[in-house]
Amino acid sequence: MEVLHVHNLSRHFGGLKAVNNVSFALKEKTIKAVIGPNGAGKTTLFNLISGFIQPSEGRVLLNSINISGMKPYQIAKRGISRTFQHIKLFHGMTALENVMIGRHRHSKSEFISGMLNLPWTWAEERSIRNRSLEIMEFLGIAELAESEATSLAYGQQRVVEVARALSCEPKLLLLDEPAAGLNMRETAEIAKLITKIRDMGITILIVEHDMSLVMNISDEILVLSYGEKIADDEPLAIQNNREVVRVYLGEEDA
Ligand SMILES: Nc1ncnc2c1ncn2[C@@H]1O[C@H](COP(=O)(O)OP(=O)(O)OP(=O)(O)O)[C@@H](O)[C@H]1O
Ligand SMILES: [Mg+2]
Repeated sequence: MEVLHVHNLSRHFGGLKAVNNVSFALKEKTIKAVIGPNGAGKTTLFNLISGFIQPSEGRVLLNSINISGMKPYQIAKRGISRTFQHIKLFHGMTALENVMIGRHRHSKSEFISGMLNLPWTWAEERSIRNRSLEIMEFLGIAELAESEATSLAYGQQRVVEVARALSCEPKLLLLDEPAAGLNMRETAEIAKLITKIRDMGITILIVEHDMSLVMNISDEILVLSYGEKIADDEPLAIQNNREVVRVYLGEEDA
């Protein structure tokens, strides 16, 4: 069964077609990678799916319901969660508090004023805290719970971001370059975590430049170039796709 359908999706910035008439489907409980050279439109595609920007044309269906035009928090409530290419953890808060925020799907200021105004009962807060800790445990970062989030090692911050995205119990997780800036060991660890999350029953769309990571964990790969889809297939077929090879070799030549 397909969780997500993207239909003829486009986003233009002035004359630039950042995403141009892209269509694809995403099967439940699979990992699909989105690859392509810098500026191909990968992050723009994620911004469109998660409601951070609106499409110029086309639509996005989550479990056959049109979610285009919805606000990010409405889309999050319906089960799509994301991480960011540039880590967005809140300064001056612990890793655990950052994960707890994901559960509220609210801004930092709402979270803090909320804590001061005690909008939840003590029992509610305790349950959010416990669930967030469980997720951190699942990802192997429980011992970092009380550390200040932005002073953690870079690789640890990336995992905290994933924990925060998981804390609102998504059906679909969008990961934008989760291995960017990680060393080989950390990359291998995050690869294991991503497959572990998929095995839990969560569908994953991942943007990644690390080709060995992509080839190892993906069930399918979507290739973008200048905003357009040039291929959407299984990893082996993608490796042997002439157009894909041309796009990447062309990039290396340049
Ligand atoms: N808000 C914006 N306003 C204008 N142009 C934008 C905006 N966002 C993205 N673009 C442009 O759209 C194109 C696609 O950008 P995008 O960030 O989606 O690429 P990407 O595939 O994620 O690249 P990278 O691998 O470098 O992260 C780029 O040319 C970029 O400059
Ligand atoms: Mg990007």
